[in-house]
Amino acid sequence: MTASSPTPLTSDDDWWRSAVVYQVYVRSFADSDGDGTGDLQGIRERLPYLRELGVDALWLTPFYTSPMIDGGYDVADYRDVDPMFGTLTDFDAMIGDAHTLGLRIIVDLVPNHTSSAHPWFTAALAAAPGSPERERYLFADGKGEQGELPPNDWESIFGGPAWTRMPDGQWYLHLFDPAQPDLNWRHPEVRAEFSDVLRFWLDRGVDGFRIDVAHGMIKAEGLPDVGFSTMTTGQRQVELLGKGRLPYFDQDEVHDIYRAWRPILDSYPGGRMAVAEAWAETPQRLARYIGPDELHQAFSFDFLDATWSADSFRKVIDSALAESTIVGAPTTWVLSNHDKQRHVTRYGDGEVGLRRARAATLLMLALPGCAYLYQGEELGLPEVLDLPDELRQDPAFLRTGESRDGCRVPIPWSGELAPYGFGPAGSELSWLPAPATWQTLSVAAQAGVPGSTLELYRAALRIRHAHPALTAGAGGVVWLETEPGVLAFSRALDGAVLTCVVNVSGAPALIDGYGQPAVASEELTVRGSGHLLPVDAAAWFERR
Ligand code: BGC
Ligand code: MG
Repeated sequence: MTASSPTPLTSDDDWWRSAVVYQVYVRSFADSDGDGTGDLQGIRERLPYLRELGVDALWLTPFYTSPMIDGGYDVADYRDVDPMFGTLTDFDAMIGDAHTLGLRIIVDLVPNHTSSAHPWFTAALAAAPGSPERERYLFADGKGEQGELPPNDWESIFGGPAWTRMPDGQWYLHLFDPAQPDLNWRHPEVRAEFSDVLRFWLDRGVDGFRIDVAHGMIKAEGLPDVGFSTMTTGQRQVELLGKGRLPYFDQDEVHDIYRAWRPILDSYPGGRMAVAEAWAETPQRLARYIGPDELHQAFSFDFLDATWSADSFRKVIDSALAESTIVGAPTTWVLSNHDKQRHVTRYGDGEVGLRRARAATLLMLALPGCAYLYQGEELGLPEVLDLPDELRQDPAFLRTGESRDGCRVPIPWSGELAPYGFGPAGSELSWLPAPATWQTLSVAAQAGVPGSTLELYRAALRIRHAHPALTAGAGGVVWLETEPGVLAFSRALDGAVLTCVVNVSGAPALIDGYGQPAVASEELTVRGSGHLLPVDAAAWFERR
């Protein structure tokens, strides 16, 4: 393998429209100091790997000062690095190297809630009910004769009531863990603070932000009940996420916040962007987060939710592309992230799951728009399903029995023993244990091995960047007529045509007339003038 030579950052302000963004779950990526936790210096050391993989940008999950109750999505200081991840100096060194290698850096911004260890919240706790210190959060008196009932019926996304009572009798709102109190975004100080936090990281050179719970900051006036009486027995509010309108999500006023942020982003050179993690009732409502006066992108999770069928894929792709035409912004394609079961496992786990995951990757990377990869998917990592309960750290686990730890296991880099080179030589620590079966999945075990998942990603990303039909601005997709269960579409520019074919049909499919194979998720067999595409496989063909 020859490492591609560094290309400095392009001055293209629209870089994010067709970028491949690699999500780094900082705690689990690479541990430079042997304490068992990934860190910024670890990322810095692995930048050449990411450069060679062929991604354009990294999204780093929160590395700010935090008690780590929710893996860092509980921020105690928005302007500093937690000692477990390093220092601001490490951050500067890391982003400097990334830019030299042509890699952009997107950081996570968590504006809906702070940590309960944030100085604002400790001040609020120390102050009396009704004091200005409490106004930055959502404190309220309870219902019932003694105020012993929560102010309304809202539920935490992590299970249980969204309210916790203080010893002085007042309640405070937390849509997530009690250690993540929700901020009051109607308070001018809260707004001013986050504008300043944006500038702090923009000044340090970040290329963009991933906005956590971007639809949650404004709560309906009067904090009205969701109204369980209208819901069927056993149905929880969390099931309504993205399907119904909740009084704490997707309120119209939330858009004022983004209209205030956009001029800040635009005042910096080099195409600084923001992507919303937002859930909305309809694609039309989700589209409202995107536009020249709001955010650049919003994650669409429909692709991730699609089932393994031609119809399901076709439907979500068509609707995503239609929406992106309406808003004039590219679609975001996501198969995995740190909150969802890894797609190898979603697609059936084991050999079948891996085959399908590889095929889905070729499908995703051939589509127009921006693709988000989650660390380890390029190795074909499955979800770790058998983590011992006592090691699980997801705060949702205790409340719901469901845990996101299985997709957060540290990356295997090399060697025969866990944690497979996650730390420096000789280090045996990792905050979650990697399974014994991961030896063969490590980067070292796959690099340079024809047919490995890592080499499949490298090949696909190389073609994606080089092929005229796949590069920025190359327009939409043209669906081709196929036998049932086979998806095929072309993208073309100036006579160069790339066709992506996915076989979901359950039987090998004969593919003919699309040109020469460029990359395939499984080996193709020549059959007459065409090729046989195996079951649960995808391939790209090119014609010029
Ligand atoms: C993040 C989760 C986190 C939650 C609360 C989500 O959007 O992706 O990991 O637990 O927000 O901050
Ligand atoms: Mg470390």
